[in-house]
Amino acid sequence: MAKRSPETKRNLAVEIAAIVDPIGGIDLDPPPRGDRNASEITMLRGNDILLIIAGGIAFYKSLDLIRRLRERGAAVRAILTRAAMEFVTPLAVGALTGNKVFTELFDRQDEHDIGHIRLAREADLIVVAPATGDILARMAHGRADDLATAVLLAADKPVLVAPAMNPLMWRHPATQRNLATLRGDGIRFVGPNAGEMAESGEAGLGRMAEPLEIVAAIEALLRPSAAVLAGCHVIVTSGPTHEPIDPVRYLANRSSGKQGHAIAIAAAAAGARVSLVTGPVILPDPFGVATIHVETAREMLEAVEAALPADVAVMAAAVADWRVAKASSGKLKKDGSGQVPPLALVENPDILATIGRHHTLRPALVVGFAAETADLLANARAKRLAKGADWILANDVSPEGGIMGGDENAIHLITGEGVEDWPRLPKGEVAERLVARIGEALRARREAAE
Ligand code: CTP
Repeated sequence: MAKRSPETKRNLAVEIAAIVDPIGGIDLDPPPRGDRNASEITMLRGNDILLIIAGGIAFYKSLDLIRRLRERGAAVRAILTRAAMEFVTPLAVGALTGNKVFTELFDRQDEHDIGHIRLAREADLIVVAPATGDILARMAHGRADDLATAVLLAADKPVLVAPAMNPLMWRHPATQRNLATLRGDGIRFVGPNAGEMAESGEAGLGRMAEPLEIVAAIEALLRPSAAVLAGCHVIVTSGPTHEPIDPVRYLANRSSGKQGHAIAIAAAAAGARVSLVTGPVILPDPFGVATIHVETAREMLEAVEAALPADVAVMAAAVADWRVAKASSGKLKKDGSGQVPPLALVENPDILATIGRHHTLRPALVVGFAAETADLLANARAKRLAKGADWILANDVSPEGGIMGGDENAIHLITGEGVEDWPRLPKGEVAERLVARIGEALRARREAAE
């Protein structure tokens, strides 16, 4: 078995420790509520969710998922596959769900008490998380050789699957065939995401969606009205742009696209039709999002204009401000004299300002970012006005903060009314918060117009 790097082990240990307390008991307290409002907290009251946990290291995120679901008022019953029990015990999962945990297809007690048909019938939604390559294969073939697959075969309710596996297994044509079959059967998916795997040195697509992403997908399925952006078209820009110097060199910046892509994912989970216009990034195209790939600022502007009309535009790309006036068609060569080539730069079009000041097709809500290393709020306020944006998400991108390219962001939301300071959050949670705020703003405008 591949060894895990000390850092991966540490990350896993920290994440698991957040769920299982240091003296070995299970922390049943809900996570801090922050400033979520009451309707958000009880969003799933009255819903029965059947969670199937298959055998993958991402099981620990499903423990957090149980807490998040119960916190929102859902009742959770769990099935563990045999492989899952190599990772976690029914006792631990039962302590979190507050319900009996089911493991066997032929359990005399359970068949009298509650069989697989009843388990399937009594759920409003079945969630498979983590879903391994093996369970996806068995689902795709309609197998019913254990309790989990028997329940899935008997299911007449929506099924949401959160895959989690090694990127090689995810990319394998057999897995991709199974996914296509399952999609055709109406199975819904959330994730997987790109990122570091539990195995040492492995990275790529296959990491299970985060618990809150799964919750958002569950809410969108069970509470279509929770789909706060249903019926909206949202354009998101993401990533850097590359401005060619010659065929092999370019000007760019350190943007990873993580924040922009997370916003596109969150908007889609909230029911929006999303057009994601992205510069070159190593992230995969998010599921359910129309992704348009561009290289340069001018191509990005063209793609954004072609995607109009839209209700909302979120410009998260770190667009290169300048391009080389005349990129060379051949590779620039050193001539041995020590002379450097004269690179005359010209300014690129400002996409946010073009959209923010669009005469005919300005979206109802235009949101930009301000990446600053000094005078954050003053610069961000000036950008809001100069570019005709409704909101600016200001972030300090000084290298010591680790924001650019990192997994977290510390946002100050600047609106016409003032400034809101958000805590430092994972980029996925920043995206969810932003989408929730956008939903509120659109609803308030609709109500004001009525
Ligand atoms: N932006 C854009 N097109 C550009 C430059 C920036 O759409 N050519 C957008 C970014 O997507 C972001 C906002 O404008 O939403 C602010 O970007 P930022 O890099 O912070 O500022 P700049 O406008 O580039 O100004 P400066 O580099 O002088 O800070």
